[in-house]
Formats: sequence, structure tokens, C-alpha cells
Amino acid sequence: MAKIVGSIVTSHVPAIGRAIAGNLQKEPYWKPFFDAFPPIHRWLDEVKPDVAVVVYNDHGLNFFLDKMPTFSVGAAPEYHNADEGWGIPTLPPFSGDTELSWHLIKQLVNKEFDLTTCQEMLVDHAFTLPLKLLWPDDGPCPIKVVPVCINTVQFPIPSASRCYKLGEAIGEAINAWDSDARVVVIGTGGLSHQLDGERAGFINKPFDLQFMQSLVDNPRWATQYSVEQLVEHTGSQGIELLMWLAARATIKGDVRALQNTYHLPISNTAAGVMLLEPVA
Ligand code: DHB
Ligand code: FE
Repeated sequence: MAKIVGSIVTSHVPAIGRAIAGNLQKEPYWKPFFDAFPPIHRWLDEVKPDVAVVVYNDHGLNFFLDKMPTFSVGAAPEYHNADEGWGIPTLPPFSGDTELSWHLIKQLVNKEFDLTTCQEMLVDHAFTLPLKLLWPDDGPCPIKVVPVCINTVQFPIPSASRCYKLGEAIGEAINAWDSDARVVVIGTGGLSHQLDGERAGFINKPFDLQFMQSLVDNPRWATQYSVEQLVEHTGSQGIELLMWLAARATIKGDVRALQNTYHLPISNTAAGVMLLEPVA
């Protein structure tokens, strides 16, 4: 059976793409953030995952406000990136693992998650930049991917409790997949940030740190909050923490944090990175 080797959660601010393109990783502004990654690269070299399930939110590249699925799963042999207007380089296509995609889709629909299945899907910065941070070498991403997209852009947004259950169901599906594959689950977004409106620039460090700690010692902690309360605590885009929650929930039982970095701000965002490994 397939095995989840760990979960990596990270912010996905578009400016990261500009920093990578401009080789700015060692600049004082960027260093505290990029320093989180070499230990994760070493871990990836060791555990050698075959496929990444990437839980992220599309920001208007693949889905727009006219058609907005709550949950969607990619089932394409290849996923293309495209210009979103952020002025960052477009990354090469990503190879899909269609066998895992259809396995996930079947299992999730059986568990009453009504998904949109995407046999064509553009992937935006929330998908491409975390993969580039994790596999920074030139050329295409070296492992196969399955995109899982959660709507955090247009209300109504699924509750933290629902996203947690989605994560649990993804984890159970991976563990039931008849394959030798080693799977890493990546969650992207957050932490606290608000890009628009009266509270533009809003950041909530105490809440972010409590949320990060909760992923290790009390993973359902955030499910006590409604979406509206989470927006109040973290900003209207801070709700992207739902992706971290779903990614964490794929691992049944305890985890240890092998990497845990929090740095602010990157652009308008409190940037966090964690590597969570299941405790055997
Ligand atoms: C920023 C953060 C995001 O999560 C995003 O999707 C776009 C922009 C920012 O802080 O600039
Ligand atoms: Fe975002």
C-alpha cells in the first residue's frame, strides 16, 4: 500500500517567484524565509517521495467567480502554469499521477465529498511556487503531482471542520492505494494576511503561532472556529490556513515538526513553513 511520508506546509506569496528568479535568496529580506528550505531538501533527498498531493487554492487562474467549485481534484497527465499578472516567470509543466488522481476521486466521492474533477487544469502560484521552493533545481519538477483545490476565494467557503474531514479522507485514500508509492502531502497558503479593504496589511502573530503549534499537539484546534471567525483572526486571505489544516489531517495520529519557521512580513503576509513527519 502507498505510504504518506510526511506533510510540508508553506506560504505561497507571489513575490517568492520574483526572489527565486532574481536569485535573492540570501538577501536580508529573503534569507529568514529561504533558510527554512535546505533542511527540508535534505529530508526530501532521504525519504524520496514519488508523488506530491498538493492542497492549495486557485486565485482566479483556473477557476473564476463565475464557476467556483468548493473542492476540486486534478486528473490530468500534465498541468500547465500561466501568467497571472504578478510579473513572475511561468514554470514548466508538471507531470500528473492520473492513477492516484482517479483513486482519490473515487474514494472521496464514495465518502460523500462531491468534487469537480479536472482533466484540464491550469495551476497558479499557490501550486507552482511551493513546488519550486521544495525542488529548486532547473527544469521541471522531478516528482509527479495531484492538485487538490479548496475554494478560499469566494464565499461560501468550506468550514475548517469540513476541510479537516477532507484531509482525513485524502489520507485514508492514499493509505488504501494499492501502490508502493511514497506520497508527500503539501499544503500551501497563509498564514495571516489581508490584501484588500480596511484591514489591508492585517497580520496576527499570536494566532499564527498558536495555529502552527496546534498542528503538532492538537490538530483539530482550528476546527472550533467558523470561517468568519478565522477571517477575523487571520485576515480575509489568512483563511488559506485551511490548506494547512487539510494537509495535516491526512496524517492519522501524532506528528513531529522537523522544520518550523515563522517570519514576517513577506509582502503582506506572515510566512510560515513546517515539515511534519508521522511518528511511527
Ligand atoms: C500575497 C499573498 C498571497 O497568499 C497571495 O495569493 C497573493 C499575494 C501577498 O502577500 O502579496
Ligand atoms: Fe494566496
